[in-house]
Amino acid sequence: MSEIAPGAFHYPVYLDPATQAALAEEIAEVVAAAPLYVSTMPKTGAPMSVRMTNCGALGWVSDKERGYRYEARHPMTGEPWPAMPPRLLELWNELTRYPKPPEACLVNLYDGEARMGLHQDKDEVDLAAPILSLSLGADCRFRLGGTRRGDPAVAFPLSSGDALVLSGPARMRYHGVDRILPTVNAPLPPTLAARGVRVNLTLRRVA
Ligand code: SIN
Ligand code: FE2
Repeated sequence: MSEIAPGAFHYPVYLDPATQAALAEEIAEVVAAAPLYVSTMPKTGAPMSVRMTNCGALGWVSDKERGYRYEARHPMTGEPWPAMPPRLLELWNELTRYPKPPEACLVNLYDGEARMGLHQDKDEVDLAAPILSLSLGADCRFRLGGTRRGDPAVAFPLSSGDALVLSGPARMRYHGVDRILPTVNAPLPPTLAARGVRVNLTLRRVA
């Protein structure tokens, strides 16, 4: 584990290959029940390059009309989100030690061209709770900034099996995904995605 900044903990390959494979199969089932969708930016309606879905009681969604928010139902199917696999709750407990369980797990799927601009996670009420990020599949170049948009940033790779916790003073740091890298240490199962795709899970406490 390395503490990239106070409260920002990077655990390279925290999940062993068998656990990565089992988790990827569980996420494939989530995607089968709750299909990936494209969120659009508030106001402009520009589509995000990432495709997403969620599991857990709440899911993160965004559209032109209503902006960023959490919803109890899938925006396309109208169905409740699938339950969070118990493995994710265990990982949350192990890695965050936060006394309340996460309510949302956002599943982001990045194909080779997808990226995510620098942003803060601030749609949650409980900002004392950490964010737990787990990565599967292709590597990416991740960027971690400061708590103000113009602050200096560090960039480092996130690989399959890596965990990243943003807690305490790092909870409100800007972050984003510069690009997906051609290196694939652990390809995703074909039931989930093609080679070269990255999946990131972020577990959040919302209320
Ligand atoms: C996010 O900030 O929602 C995703 C971060 C990542 O893909 O690593
Ligand atoms: Fe984020």
